[in-house]
Parts: sequence; structure tokens; C-alpha cells
Amino acid sequence: QTPKGSCLEAVKIAIDAGYRHIDGAFVYFNEHEVGQAIREKIAEGKIKREDIFYCGKLWNTCHPPELVRPTLEKTLKILQLDYVDLYIIELPMAFKPGDALYPKDENGKFIYHETDLCATWEALEACKDAGLAKSIGVSNFNRRQLEMIMNKPGLKYKPVSNQVECHPYFTQPKLLEFCRQHDIVIVGYSPLGTSRDESWVNVSSPPLLKDPVLNAIGKKYNKTAAQIALRFNVQRGVVVIPKSFNPQRIRENFQIFDFSLTEQEMKEIEALNKNVRYVELLM
Ligand code: A2P
Repeated sequence: QTPKGSCLEAVKIAIDAGYRHIDGAFVYFNEHEVGQAIREKIAEGKIKREDIFYCGKLWNTCHPPELVRPTLEKTLKILQLDYVDLYIIELPMAFKPGDALYPKDENGKFIYHETDLCATWEALEACKDAGLAKSIGVSNFNRRQLEMIMNKPGLKYKPVSNQVECHPYFTQPKLLEFCRQHDIVIVGYSPLGTSRDESWVNVSSPPLLKDPVLNAIGKKYNKTAAQIALRFNVQRGVVVIPKSFNPQRIRENFQIFDFSLTEQEMKEIEALNKNVRYVELLM
């Protein structure tokens, strides 16, 4: 989903800037570039493999338990790495397995598949036991879906994290509290309010980075609205995975550890919550 070579460059710049957590997926079609960037930086002596935290994702068409390990092995082969640090179920719905990543019927409707999410989870547990994934988690799961996994008879490992949309306009107060109680880390995607690509983003919600409150607070600290949005989440214990292909903005998004927001500012930003998603995932 990225122009050829741009991901390789962006990951190398990010590693040089200090990033260590890289969020990827088979369906981003750039895992080969991510793997190459990591391997080049290791060869340069800039990092060791264990410094990097790579998250890979199991796509919807690969939920049947017998497909899980081969799918992860395929990702590892593309990355040319021995293990991923985190492997997560990308979405809590299964599509019909096969070559089509977005299988649709003649009416344009998605063709789903009846795989028990708990069975998929057990296959992830086996990948962890085999050393192919250091940790396992989920993404886009609501509380009910998390509970289904956690209450599964014979559960071996609970999800360490749940990656969901999270930013000042969609702060996830209830899910965050639930996950805190259960020691599940929330990883916030679209922490800057997305690229506003109308093919997958609900653009009726206003642009996050134009928000007057974020910009006013930014002025006080000589920071941008983007830095304030990221700092807000980090300060409340939410991991952020900002996306940028621009060297200056990649570096900018890392400069968030030299200041902190006051309690009052945290509250002001929390009050921006609109409970509206940019990424509706209507499938
Ligand atoms: P670009 O790649 O040109 O920097 P999200 O992380 O919420 O998905 O947002 C990604 C979008 O935000 C991308 O369009 C990216 O564009 C843009 N972006 C990333 N960092 C910044 C920043 N510091 N200021 C403004 N826009 C940014």
C-alpha cells in the first residue's frame, strides 16, 4: 500500500530517529521492505534484532487454526526474520480463506467464514510456544470479544495488547479502563487522525490536527498539534503508532519525551472526545 522503496527508507529513518516499535501487516504489502530496513540497520551495527519490536498481523482470510502458523511463517519468510515480537489477530471477523484477501460474492458482499475466534487464538498460542511470536494479542476487539478469549476454557496466554483506534477525538475511555484492569496494553492506531483517505476514512469527523485546543497547548510547549496528540496518549499509558513517510515528520513524532502535559491539560484534551471513529471498519 506504499510506493516501492518508500517504506524501506521510512523505516530506516525511523530507526535512526530512535523508533524501535514497528507496526506491520501482511496486508500492507511492504513487509519485505520493513524486514530489509531492519536487517540493513542490524548490519550497520545501529541496532540488534532484540532492540526491535516488530508487530505482525493475521489477516481475516487466515483465521482457520490450521492456517495460522503457515501464515505467520510466510510473514517471517517475507521479513527474513526468525520471529515477530508480537503477532495479533487483525480483526475479529473471518473471511473465506483463499487467494482473494477481500472475498466478495456476486452482489459485492463480503464472504465471511465461520471460524471460532477461540480456535484461532489457540493457534496463536501454539505459535508463541513454537517461538515464532514472542507475544500474542488482538486488534479491533471490543470488550465482549476480549472476554470471550479471556474466559476460554484452558486459556494458556491472554492477549497482551489490543490495537484499536485511539486519539483525542476517540479516546476509548471504557475500553481503556477495562484493558487497564486486565493488564492489556492498548495500542492506538491512527493517533494523528489518519491520512483522511476517503476510500477508508470517515471524513465527516473534522481533522484532528486542526483542533484549536491541541494547537493552543502546543504553542505553550513549542510543540505541534501532532506532538500534543501523541504525548496525550503516551501519558495515559496508550502506545502510539503514528505513520509518516516524511523524514521531518517522522523525527517530529518522536520528539515527545522532553515535556509533559499538566493534569488540567490532559482533562481538556480528554474532553475533546467525540466518540466518532475515523476508521469505521464497516465490514
Ligand atoms: P505524511 O506521511 O505525509 O507525514 P495516522 O498516524 O493517524 O494514521 O496519521 C497519518 C497521517 O498523518 C499521514 O497522512 C501523515 O502524512 C500525517 N502525519 C504524520 N505525522 C504528522 C505530523 N507530525 N504533522 C502532520 N501530519 C502528520
